[in-house]
Amino acid sequence: MSKLAHHHKKLERNITLLAVFAFIAVAIGGIVEIAPLFWIDNTVEEVEGVRPYTPLELAGRNIYVREGCYTCHSQMIRPFRDEVERYGHYSLAAESMYDHPFQWGSKRTGPDLARVGGRYSDEWHVQHLTDPRAVVPESIMPPYAFLAEKKLDPGDMAAHLRTMTRVGVPYSEDDIAKANEDLAIQADPMANSSDLEKRYPKVQIRDFDGNPNKLSEMDAVIAYLQMLGTLVDFESGEAQEQPR
Ligand code: HEC
Repeated sequence: MSKLAHHHKKLERNITLLAVFAFIAVAIGGIVEIAPLFWIDNTVEEVEGVRPYTPLELAGRNIYVREGCYTCHSQMIRPFRDEVERYGHYSLAAESMYDHPFQWGSKRTGPDLARVGGRYSDEWHVQHLTDPRAVVPESIMPPYAFLAEKKLDPGDMAAHLRTMTRVGVPYSEDDIAKANEDLAIQADPMANSSDLEKRYPKVQIRDFDGNPNKLSEMDAVIAYLQMLGTLVDFESGEAQEQPR
């Protein structure tokens, strides 16, 4: 018997020794995988176009979470051919990097919504949310007509944005200070929005629910739905993931 095999036999027959060496072997594997993560500050590669949500989009997103839309809708297009052909370019990690909590979802009773922005008109969304079967006869989605009735009451958006910065969303002091006015400006096509547009590229500004007299929860939800998947430009070639 060779010397090595002899040593190995000893190791295999001594449970304590075997446990010690097994621990060392597993620890080396663990350190190799885990230690590099201590020295990089982000595992998500930045992608051009991805920006934090505007206050109105964020308020709409909060309603989306409150109403449990995620129990029927996912927001993650997987890199499979059938998904990409139906929903568009597969989701990039960076596209949900400012999502707290993320809305990837684990169930699709309805379609994935990661790229629903711009697919339908605002009027379609108002009709659909008010009475889904009015536009999609076979739909089993519940109606959310009350969203148009309820005045949007999102609380103090400045405090909300500041909280988001605590978990790494890069809102500026300017964004935080102007959060509450930004919220109103986005749903008011008559307001001066140049500053909002500068700070939030590709922001869509209009009266989303078709009722200019009221800033409703419907405005916020549609503002959110209409921006989903619209920030990254996939048309001009492959979106560039930029390693830092
Ligand atoms: C009980 C499950 C269920 C819930 C909860 C639900 N939906 Fe749906 N949703 C569906 C189904 C099924 C469809 C597909 C039929 C249709 O278009 O109505 C759908 C379709 C949609 C569509 C159209 C997607 C497309 O690409 O055609 C949007 C937008 C949408 N839902 C938004 C919402 C929002 C916002 C909420 C929460 C306020 C919500 N849904 C809650 C089941 C649900």
